[in-house]
Amino acid sequence: MKKRVIYSAIQPSGMMTLGNYIGAVSNWRDIQADGANDCIFALADLHTITVRQDPEKLRRNSVSFLALLLAAGIDPKRSVLYVQSHVHEHAELCWLLNCYTYVGEMNRMTQFKDKSAKHSDNINMGLMDYPVLMAADILLYKSDQVPVGVDQMQHIEIARDIAERFNNIYGETFVVPEGRLTKTGAKIMSLQDPTSKMSKSDPNPNGVISVLDSADDIARKIKRSVTDSGLEIVFDPENKPGVSNLLTILASAEGKTVEEEVKAFEGKMYGHLKVACAEAVVEMLRPFREKYDAYMSDEAGLLAVAADGRERAQAIAAKTLADVKRKIGLLV
Ligand code: TYM
Repeated sequence: MKKRVIYSAIQPSGMMTLGNYIGAVSNWRDIQADGANDCIFALADLHTITVRQDPEKLRRNSVSFLALLLAAGIDPKRSVLYVQSHVHEHAELCWLLNCYTYVGEMNRMTQFKDKSAKHSDNINMGLMDYPVLMAADILLYKSDQVPVGVDQMQHIEIARDIAERFNNIYGETFVVPEGRLTKTGAKIMSLQDPTSKMSKSDPNPNGVISVLDSADDIARKIKRSVTDSGLEIVFDPENKPGVSNLLTILASAEGKTVEEEVKAFEGKMYGHLKVACAEAVVEMLRPFREKYDAYMSDEAGLLAVAADGRERAQAIAAKTLADVKRKIGLLV
């Protein structure tokens, strides 16, 4: 039987957050463990430059994110791990797909609207075209499923629309991909403002946990997290977003369901929940730092992993791109 193709990517900017880890990367690792899948994971560095980056920092971050993904358990023997800009087919397919995407569709994208408001001095074409490049990433590999957090689901919907539109015009070409959310933790919220997503660009550093934070920092941030009025520990994201977020983080860190956690905390206080949550997150992330340091001490090894990934990714991407060009009527 044909294996399912699983594709996802992460931007190598700033830090890898607890949200990235719970909502996406730990899910990738679990999917990789299931032998029924062909997994392909990328560093989306072309997406990163839609916001101005310092060149030296971007370079360092790309190396660092390779180490982070390996430390998280992405195994280059079992998955293809590569850097998006190494495979020029992404940019090329993006251009072709641009001609099958409407400006109105891009204007409606929530992330585009948010980022335009945040970076009003630099609303560049790349920022607007971001979802089309993402569609190109996914469609190049005939991906069946795309494991992401909730914030990326709208972009996957657009990738589906573009794939269907192209298939309708030229005949079966692309696989129409499905988004795949982790059961618990597909949207981890800021610890300081639990009504907004935990994000590496949070201006308040206490709202966000990096997977490389020390045990003390993790415990401090969770203990100081904003909770809600009342005393009862219940899962009610609308009325008790802070407590619900801690329950979600705790459940994912312990591999339990939120319902099990709610039951375990019956009659207990917010303080108890915070202590348990802090301990569980520290425990979950404990192996990270050590493994990360070991990978980082061998930059040549990391670049060799990327070079191998590039070759394997490009072999697939080149075939799809040639097929698309032929169908459109370009000379190949
Ligand atoms: P990025 O780099 O912002 O985030 C990487 C992954 O982490 C998820 N995520 C979260 N999940 C739960 N709670 C949170 N607080 C949280 N914050 C982030 C994101 O949903 C994502 O899955 N455009 C993408 C990268 C990309 C991509 C692709 C993804 C480029 N091409 C093709 C899938 C397929 C992005 O910026 O993710």
